[in-house]
Amino acid sequence: MARIILVSNRLSVSVQRRKGRLEFAQSMGGLATGLSSLEGDREKLWIGWSGLPSEEQLPDESRELENELRDHYNSIPVSLCTEDLNRFYFGFCNNVIWPLFHYFPTYANYDENLWESYRDVNHRYMEKVLTVAEPGDLLWVHDYQLMLLPRMLRDAIPDARIGFFLHIPFPSYEVFRLLPWRHELLNGLLGADLIGFHTYDYARHFISSARRLLGIEDTAGYIRFRKRMCKVDVFPMGIDYEKYSGALEQPKIQRERERAVATLRGRKVVLSVDRLDYTKGIPQRLRAFDRFLERNPQAWGKVVLLLIVVPSRTRVPRYRSLKREVDELVSSINGRYGTIDWEPVRYFYRPFPYDRLTALYGLADVMLVTPLRDGMNLVAKEFVATRAHDEHAGVLILSETAGAAKELGEALLINPNSIEEIAVAIETALSMDPEERAERNTLMRERLSRYDIRYWARDFLEKLNTVVELQKQQLARQIDDRIRRTLTERYRSARRRLLLLDYDGTLVPLSANPDRARPDPELIEVLRSLAAQEGTEVVISSGRGRSRLAGWFGELPVSLIARHGVWLKRHGQEWRLIEPLNGEWKEILRPMLELHRDRTPGSSIEEGEYSMAWYYRKTEPELAAVRVSELKDTLYSLTRDLGLEVIEGNKFLEIKHMNVHKGRAVAHWLDQDSWDFLLAAGDDQTDEAMFTSLPEHGVSIKIGQAISNAGYFIESPEALRALLQEWSA
Ligand code: ADP
Ligand code: G6P
Repeated sequence: MARIILVSNRLSVSVQRRKGRLEFAQSMGGLATGLSSLEGDREKLWIGWSGLPSEEQLPDESRELENELRDHYNSIPVSLCTEDLNRFYFGFCNNVIWPLFHYFPTYANYDENLWESYRDVNHRYMEKVLTVAEPGDLLWVHDYQLMLLPRMLRDAIPDARIGFFLHIPFPSYEVFRLLPWRHELLNGLLGADLIGFHTYDYARHFISSARRLLGIEDTAGYIRFRKRMCKVDVFPMGIDYEKYSGALEQPKIQRERERAVATLRGRKVVLSVDRLDYTKGIPQRLRAFDRFLERNPQAWGKVVLLLIVVPSRTRVPRYRSLKREVDELVSSINGRYGTIDWEPVRYFYRPFPYDRLTALYGLADVMLVTPLRDGMNLVAKEFVATRAHDEHAGVLILSETAGAAKELGEALLINPNSIEEIAVAIETALSMDPEERAERNTLMRERLSRYDIRYWARDFLEKLNTVVELQKQQLARQIDDRIRRTLTERYRSARRRLLLLDYDGTLVPLSANPDRARPDPELIEVLRSLAAQEGTEVVISSGRGRSRLAGWFGELPVSLIARHGVWLKRHGQEWRLIEPLNGEWKEILRPMLELHRDRTPGSSIEEGEYSMAWYYRKTEPELAAVRVSELKDTLYSLTRDLGLEVIEGNKFLEIKHMNVHKGRAVAHWLDQDSWDFLLAAGDDQTDEAMFTSLPEHGVSIKIGQAISNAGYFIESPEALRALLQEWSA
């Protein structure tokens, strides 16, 4: 079975030197704790930094370290020296990307030198992967430190299966655009086959940035970029549920809990656990606790805040100043309210081992998780899972700006910037009745137990395989020289041939100004020659109106379909309606479309006798995206009872009669003759009905590459033109 190669900046194990000896410990942070509980039947290899700067390794130690990491942790270290750490890790990763992506743009230091180091170190990770990757391995790159790596790997191993997961938020376009290297990062990420995010918002922000900065479109999360398809999807990371839900039954954790309970002397516990990071909102949390005490003198002596903070990124000045701020706030609260036998805030600045941490989760009355921004936040999930069998369930207070809030909606959700809201939430939590507490936690626990870390990884890896399979199928359907020769032979040897051709985006490239997209003389010649061939019938099937089509093609021996199937004109005959239709509904819908047109610069309305369309080719893409979904929503409810439907084409929305479509229109030709060669070519959603109505031996070609029912894909209108030209000769 294929191996999984996990690549992340930090390994799940961190190496430190203590008293001259190397020590191995679990790495801190959601990525490391989450991924280290991944199990499964596949062989796993982890590539990343060991936590020890290369200068701190003695010359004869590095072999020993490598062996230990490989044999006991399936890990391969990437060597980073102090200079790399200063520029890449502390510099670009944690002083540019981290603040920017967590909506602290003013903290970011856009220094070219740091960027160069980011590029170099990503390259070094790529080289390390290449030393171990074997054909068939699945490469799974993690997090913001390695956003250039997917593209580097793609260039080095074009057919590799590459997944990427971002563990932090992806900010909105307005924030992301501030980054001087925004194009490079998007390009780097789009080297992956699958890009995963914790929440829909982050995925939406990513797609929106890619759309605006690279001009690409997505179809249901599939993005085509540099001739490759990449899928963007959502995978909220879970935890090792069993590890936490069963914890309180373990005797050693029970002992830890009892020991802690004894020191509390019946006091209620508010618990807080994080890395020391300005995104976690620790000062705000302390101020809120202060406010709570101020307003609740009856709670003095009866409530204690356990503040557990792990040191993090201590060489970044912001983190150092945060440490001072937290120290001062703790002293100030304890100084003001503390008594000989009551310290309101008990503060620990160090990592806690799993046993002790879960024991605290197990006794807390309130868990206070109030990050200003957090990609996910696993602490909140660990707490809920630990209280699985506890009838005295504690209450989770959770920030609405943590990714976890999307799944833990039964927590007391607060705005982390509102000291007042947090203080009130502490009061509410401490006085909540047991039934309500249990009810809220049960719902959350059920969710966490289903979507745990294993499910998360399986879901991601299965989706990655699906995407890769889809790419393979698409590749096999891409018209190359061999397919082209076969089609040409089939065309030439047929006696009765039918060519069903869409116009805009198929016979001519899409133009920002539809009025100017008139057929060029070369196209007219190709169509004339094809239609003149004995036994060949050419049908141009378009969304355009009758007069425009007749004006452009009236002189040619071709048949025409106008307005996506409303009107048909066989060569030599008059226009006729596909069936009796009525257009009174247009009076009802017109004001709505006009309102949208007026509010959306660059958009226009085109009206047929029995259809209406709203075009937005010239509209700024992001605005268009918003307006399209608004208009679709409104129209769906208005058209439902009128026998109408709303279809989305290439940069337009059309309202038309439900049973009138290109598929039905081309049936007139399909029914009437026995064709031994049939071709349908088109570029958008309206052409799909044509593709599916062809008999089995028909050839359908989609221009561009997206999800489609067509049998083949061709790169562009120019490439289709070349094929038709060959046939016309
Ligand atoms: P982040 O990834 O930003 O640090 P998360 O809440 O997603 O935040 O993950 C933090 C992880 O680190 C959790 O698995 C938690 O158990 C662990 N952790 C946090 N604080 C401590 C601590 N003081 N001691 C031990 N582990 C901690
Ligand atoms: C977050 C990030 C991880 C990172 C962790 C700890 O969880 O998403 O990529 O490893 O914080 O930070 P550190 O800088 O110590 O690796």
